[in-house]
Amino acid sequence: MLEVTNLSKRFGGLVAVANVDLSVRQGEIRGIIGPNGSGKSTLFNLISSVYKPEPGSRIAFDGEDITGRPPHDIARRGIARTFQLLRIFTQMSVLENLLIGHHSHVRYGVGAAVVGAARVWAEERRLKQEMMDLLGFVGLADYAEMAAGELSIGQRRLLALGRAMAMRPKLLMLDEPAAGLSPVNVDKLLNTVMALQKRFGLTLVIIEHILKVVMESCDTVTVLDHGEKIAEGPPAAIKDDHRVIEAYLGKEMADAEVRAFLKAS
Ligand SMILES: Nc1ncnc2c1ncn2[C@@H]1O[C@H](COP(=O)(O)OP(=O)(O)OP(=O)(O)O)[C@@H](O)[C@H]1O
Ligand SMILES: [Mg+2]
Repeated sequence: MLEVTNLSKRFGGLVAVANVDLSVRQGEIRGIIGPNGSGKSTLFNLISSVYKPEPGSRIAFDGEDITGRPPHDIARRGIARTFQLLRIFTQMSVLENLLIGHHSHVRYGVGAAVVGAARVWAEERRLKQEMMDLLGFVGLADYAEMAAGELSIGQRRLLALGRAMAMRPKLLMLDEPAAGLSPVNVDKLLNTVMALQKRFGLTLVIIEHILKVVMESCDTVTVLDHGEKIAEGPPAAIKDDHRVIEAYLGKEMADAEVRAFLKAS
């Protein structure tokens, strides 16, 4: 479904992503891990066309070359993503945040003027119902009319998930969806993600630094270090890969949790 070849991105002298190949099957749950600054978010920013890749890079989706297409075109084709730092409209209601997510994706064409107001209203009603169903799915239906700024961090993460889903994606890319959550809320969020994946037959790519989450939920794990892909395979094999262990343990910044997890395996 997603076929990335020779993907690279430089920022000045820094190579943030270096000749990365990535192939994701339809329906797969793919984990992306790597130390801080290893290029994970940049990879997402390239696929969703927030950044333009270096010449020679190629990104194909559903068999079509989408390299350098504008972001709204990428979204229209069925690729949605969340951001590591949440981008929520705090003054708008929870429901409005979803509707905005949807509208920025599906635009009314000239057809809307021709078919008439009644049909547009009917469509609006149907859409609102769809968004309410989505809010129900992520457990926020009761908060639909509340200003998004009043939500807890856990609820904001769920809203970001709902908003990405409002674009009716085929491929959903989540950048550290559980960052900043308590263990209980991490489990809750992950359960919701997996339920959405099943319900909508999504293909999922998840950047996650909580290794337990990746190891338990992903079919395949891709490991980046200094922008390069250093390992790829099933979670069990990745856990024992010496390059992966070195990439993490070699970093002074590798946190205690990561060390403990890798050493225990
Ligand atoms: N817009 C930018 N301008 C300049 N440098 C950037 C930019 N975006 C990312 N970088 C650099 O590219 C490298 C990769 O960053 P990236 O955010 O992709 O890492 P990451 O793996 O997502 O890290 P983290 O785990 O901390 O989120 C880092 O050195 C970062 O400082
Ligand atoms: Mg990142």
